[in-house]
Amino acid sequence: MLHCMIGRVAGVYNARSATGTKTVPPRVSGRGATGGCVLETIHGGCPMSEQVDQGRRQLLTAATLLTGAVGAGFAAVPFLASWKPSARARALGAPVEVDISKLEPGALMKVEWRGKPVWVLRRTPEMLQQLEGIDDLLADPGSASSIQPDYARNPARAANPEFLVMLGVCTHLGCAPIERFRRGDAELGADWPGGFYCPCHGSKFDLSGRVFKAMPAPTNLTVPPHTFVDDNRILVGEDQARAA
Ligand code: FES
Repeated sequence: MLHCMIGRVAGVYNARSATGTKTVPPRVSGRGATGGCVLETIHGGCPMSEQVDQGRRQLLTAATLLTGAVGAGFAAVPFLASWKPSARARALGAPVEVDISKLEPGALMKVEWRGKPVWVLRRTPEMLQQLEGIDDLLADPGSASSIQPDYARNPARAANPEFLVMLGVCTHLGCAPIERFRRGDAELGADWPGGFYCPCHGSKFDLSGRVFKAMPAPTNLTVPPHTFVDDNRILVGEDQARAA
């Protein structure tokens, strides 16, 4: 390479022919601009050193391109991965299966779905009776302004009246109401029909989570989508049971 450059600067190129030494003008190849040899020997070929340089240059170019492609691939993996929802995000949005086989009549169990508490209350026949005759006391007895699936827009606010599935989150400012299931609870008064009480600002709800009139909470407690997989399991977060 250095040899070629020196020749180009001097404008003279000495080559030894088979019959002796003579001075010949350099033959400048038109391939120089496109990567061929710049000078040709009197035999018409590239000098050996330049042929080696060409080979090395092509090898280095190929290696550089390959390294760049591999590097771009590795860089793209975490970038593309960041577009996929994480396992935790998927888990947070996934339905939750609740085993109700050991839930006693009159008992409440609590599970978590999408980071929120979900209650499953197994109501007794007496508890269902406590829902009757109180519509005049309720702010939204028909759940017209509240959040629930269509199959829960009824006085029991449930697909199966025996099981109430409901978010344990007050619709006022998000506190957790507490259970006050007995009629005439000592704290809530002789006319208390039974239900839930939010101690934060005093909102009261019946045993279907329907809010009483003149309470801070604007709507009934929310009923999430849910379905009965079978007699012992409820799927919270889906309206339809998953295919077995
Ligand atoms: S958060 Fe329940 S009454 Fe305010």
